Amino acid sequence: MELFESQVYLQRRNNLQGKIKNGIALILGNNESPMNYPANGYHFRQDSSFLYFFGLPIPGLAGVIDFDENKQIIFGNDVDIEDIIWMGPQPMMKDLGEKVGISDTRPFAELEAYLKKAQDAGRKVHYLPPYRPDNKILLHKTLGIPFEELKSNCSVELIKEVVELRAIKDEHELRELDKAAATGYKMHMAAFQMARPGLVEQEICGRMEGIAYQYGMGPSFPIILSVRGETLHNHYHGNIMQDGDLLLSDAGAESNMHYASDFTRTMPVSGKFNQRQKEIYQIVLDANNRAFEMVKPGVTYQSIHLEAAKVIAQGLIDLGIMKGNADEAVAAGAHAMFFPHGLGHMMGLDVHDMEDLGENYVGYDDEVSRIDQFGTAYLRMGRRLKEGHVMTNEPGIYFIPALIEKWHKEAKFTEFINFEKAKSYIGFGGIRLEDDLLVTAIGGKYIGNRLPITVDEVEEAMRK
Ligand code: GLY
Repeated sequence: MELFESQVYLQRRNNLQGKIKNGIALILGNNESPMNYPANGYHFRQDSSFLYFFGLPIPGLAGVIDFDENKQIIFGNDVDIEDIIWMGPQPMMKDLGEKVGISDTRPFAELEAYLKKAQDAGRKVHYLPPYRPDNKILLHKTLGIPFEELKSNCSVELIKEVVELRAIKDEHELRELDKAAATGYKMHMAAFQMARPGLVEQEICGRMEGIAYQYGMGPSFPIILSVRGETLHNHYHGNIMQDGDLLLSDAGAESNMHYASDFTRTMPVSGKFNQRQKEIYQIVLDANNRAFEMVKPGVTYQSIHLEAAKVIAQGLIDLGIMKGNADEAVAAGAHAMFFPHGLGHMMGLDVHDMEDLGENYVGYDDEVSRIDQFGTAYLRMGRRLKEGHVMTNEPGIYFIPALIEKWHKEAKFTEFINFEKAKSYIGFGGIRLEDDLLVTAIGGKYIGNRLPITVDEVEEAMRK
């Protein structure tokens, strides 16, 4: 198992202890989860907040930071002889604890009594929103909170402090993000090199997954790779690629220490963009580049999203697919027929970083609130940027037949959309171009090498 120096975890826990004055933080690890029978589990993935504060990527653990008594404890069981027979020799809890700066380890069975005693003394047990059924059961049983109240009883104070800490990536984390990016780069280069008419999407997907496992823990999320790229999260990989198709490939890797990358590129299956494809592609690339130029501390990502939307609207107006004034079209939300999602999300230990803690706590704050308008409402990251933030930049243009038909029937935004022209693009698919960015003191920085992205660079990568 790969870990940072124990000091890193100790410092992170101490940072949290410096912020929360009373009670206990309970950070639950994840458990094995059966797939089709108990001993055949899904790929194990540790909880990311547990990884952040307690590091250990193994099941059956819970971390406690006791703010009142100034204690840091991991609850977990030593392996027994049966475990050793099946899994080989394993470190004891005491040794595992030492690796992450914890000198106090206790059997898991003692957790319940520890929490009950604290509750009986009127102390608060802060916990994060649970998302796994077994951890919901544990919280229900140990804290006596009804299932339906588990969400409303979780600690907003703890959530906010964890988000503030995890949102700023330190040098150790940036090195891991670079590794995840390097693997993501290899995955996408394989897609460029393999794509050609007659191939089934699955053949490329399998190769990309193989690379993700060859260099790390596998893909950071299920790969989206499709000639039907207008479906935003298309996980069907059974299409045979045809000459004239665009292939959208959205994939990233998880490093051995569980940090993510997330890139999207779109390529012509034939190896050469046609004129229509080039025109739409260039608009998306312009939006991506404009967003990158704007990234710097102090700017809200919401304003960058809206600027990218304006670049898209203006580009579509220039092609006659939209009409009118781009600023007004974006203010009204008309652009969202073609760009119905957000510009990006935070990224770190999770590809959608900390989404389990609540999207609004991660991407918004007291100053910047979510805009409740179709399309922009999907923007996960809107807040003011700070040095050390990491997020994706992923504008796109899609021709979604059902949405075009629906809005046309409803005569929606007829002042901004040329429906006849838009309908002539049905079958075109979708284009998304996504990079991962770090906010530095002077502006945005690509994480890893930027994948080929201009029309010429993509065609060149496909020729090789
Ligand atoms: N790249 C996939 C997603 O952000 O959901």
